[in-house]
Amino acid sequence: MGGQRIFITGGAGGLGRALAECYARAGWDVCIGDLDVARCAETLAAIRQHAPRSQALACDVRREEDLQAAAAWLKDNWQGVDVVVNNAGVAQMGGIEEATPADWQWIVDINLLGVVRGCRVFVPLLRAQGGGWIVNVASMAGLLHMPHAAAYNATKAAVVALSETLQLELAPDRIGVTVVCPAFFRTALAQNMRASNPQLEKMTRRLVDRARIGPDEIAQLVFTGVARGATHILTHPEARRLWWLKRYLPYSWYLALIRRQLARMEARMRRPAAPV
Ligand SMILES: NC(=O)c1ccc[n+]([C@@H]2O[C@H](COP(=O)([O-])OP(=O)(O)OC[C@H]3O[C@@H](n4cnc5c(N)ncnc54)[C@H](O)[C@@H]3O)[C@@H](O)[C@H]2O)c1
Repeated sequence: MGGQRIFITGGAGGLGRALAECYARAGWDVCIGDLDVARCAETLAAIRQHAPRSQALACDVRREEDLQAAAAWLKDNWQGVDVVVNNAGVAQMGGIEEATPADWQWIVDINLLGVVRGCRVFVPLLRAQGGGWIVNVASMAGLLHMPHAAAYNATKAAVVALSETLQLELAPDRIGVTVVCPAFFRTALAQNMRASNPQLEKMTRRLVDRARIGPDEIAQLVFTGVARGATHILTHPEARRLWWLKRYLPYSWYLALIRRQLARMEARMRRPAAPV
């Protein structure tokens, strides 16, 4: 892929920022869109050290007009864009009776419809310029569905389905699609999440905050994966193994395995955090 221009939603923090820095260091022009305008300015200052033409735009993926304005900016100023990353996302944790319809609407609007809007708005631009690449950030939660996270799991599974659909649908237009499925890595995701009860909130915070891997390592895996045209990027080897088992074992065996793993994880969660 010879492209040098990238647009990243949710680019002000977490994985979005790590991707922005990674591509900027590689010499790409980077445009970030985020609803957090103050953090956008901070991230822009950092990436401009490597990529002086970089830009930040106020962009809420819940508003199609914001994405349209971003596409128009890229067309007018950079004559297009090579890679579009639909990364902005939030988390909601709660059992089926706890998560409210408002919680579902909130997360579907950002995690699923935000990606749908990104694809709908940018596909005509990519098609008109003769091709390009879309990267949708889903999650391992889109492939392996842990309990008490139905809303998050459902949005991420839908992003996987959307991405796999577009891999076939957009290939004739020379538009490639990659779906990224990371397990837990350290970002502000848990600080910004909605949780239906304090135990779930504490558990998710611990899983994110204590994750072995940080956003820079995920960004690097995305960078190399997209460069080789990967359809799926599963960033965590242990989660990749579980997914493989889900696909090839009888489902009841897989369920038994997951139940054992969940019991072990719950026991680990009850242990106090090691001092740092
Ligand atoms: N951190 C993890 O453990 C983990 C695991 C799997 C998948 N993911 C996915 O990675 C993606 C990035 O999350 P993160 O972990 O970097 O979280 P984060 O909270 O650190 O960063 C998310 C960024 O998106 C922005 N954002 C939130 N809502 C937005 C909206 N409506 N419009 C535009 N921007 C918005 C935030 O301001 C923030 O800058 C998400 O899609 C998330 O679901 C994260």
